[in-house]
Amino acid sequence: EATDKELIEKVWKLKKYFGKDLFIPGHHYQRDDVIQFADATGDSLQLAQVSAANTEASYIIFCGVHFMAETADILANENQRVILPDLRAGCSMADMANRAQTEKAWEKLTSIYGDTIIPITYVNSSAEIKAFVGRHGGATVTSSNAEKMLHWAFSQKKRILFLPDQHLGRNTAYDMGISLNEMVVWNPHKEEMEEDVLDPKMILWKGHCSVHENFRIDHVWSLREKDPERKILVHPECSWEVTQAADLAGSTRFIIEQVRQAPKGAKWAIGTEMNLVKRLIKQFPDQSIVSLNPEMCPCLTMNRIDLPHLVWALDELYEGRIPNQIRVDHQVAQEAKLAIDRMLVND
Ligand code: 13P
Ligand code: SF4
Repeated sequence: EATDKELIEKVWKLKKYFGKDLFIPGHHYQRDDVIQFADATGDSLQLAQVSAANTEASYIIFCGVHFMAETADILANENQRVILPDLRAGCSMADMANRAQTEKAWEKLTSIYGDTIIPITYVNSSAEIKAFVGRHGGATVTSSNAEKMLHWAFSQKKRILFLPDQHLGRNTAYDMGISLNEMVVWNPHKEEMEEDVLDPKMILWKGHCSVHENFRIDHVWSLREKDPERKILVHPECSWEVTQAADLAGSTRFIIEQVRQAPKGAKWAIGTEMNLVKRLIKQFPDQSIVSLNPEMCPCLTMNRIDLPHLVWALDELYEGRIPNQIRVDHQVAQEAKLAIDRMLVND
């Protein structure tokens, strides 16, 4: 068994060997022992953009989850190969909407609302869902541009089907002045709406992030009681109650910016994935940073990309094999790209 030190040395060596032919993007939720090798770090939008801009590398080893690697493959040129070091690095939220469910929902919703509805999907979704959205004139959004993109969507149609994260959809629409009683939840298992709303503006897919649901309103209350000066900063994948009760809410990029700009001695309770919170604690030792949920909330699938898997992927490449290539079907990729491009031009 190689030690971590040996594995780390090996990655540096192989990175040097491949040079510009290899590009490693790393999401902010990745482990420290992986993120140290990233050529670019970012939130999901930034990573989609840097992958699109990089035309030099033949190999992209994506340190993130499956839907991100799919997006990278969709944006890559035909000579590039996208590799996910562990195929089990999925996303439970992305798995909450599949093609058959979405087609069924669309059939029912368009039979009720006719041509007044546009589908929008969070990038945390499979390529097939992005393709569905692209096919029907919609766009993708990320947590950094959701509000801008919802404004665009409402300039196209009267109402939105928002996939797959009900919380990002609800939180963003609410911030734009849409009231909760103009929103309705679509339950894909029951194939029906969960409330009776006559003329909804937002139809929210019943999906959520299993990491961010662990930040609860009782965490906010107990923190307010114990430490009222501490600012609560959360990701909009948290529930509406938590997001409303927090001081600030925004994407991973926004969270990092807030901490970066804060003065010495600032006190934060952060509601997002554990690796990012831990990294902020380390990088800003003169601020006081804790997790909003004291138990810390890791994303288990993000964590599947670890040092041994990264070394394995590099070894395979070195041996001339292409391991765990993520390849999106051509037709699906073309339609998904329509949805992604509508986001990139409007962002
Ligand atoms: P962002 O990186 O867009 O903030 O998304 C967070 C997330 O859950 C990624 O899986
Ligand atoms: Fe998916 Fe949530 Fe993990 Fe992001 S943090 S990859 S949305 S499960």
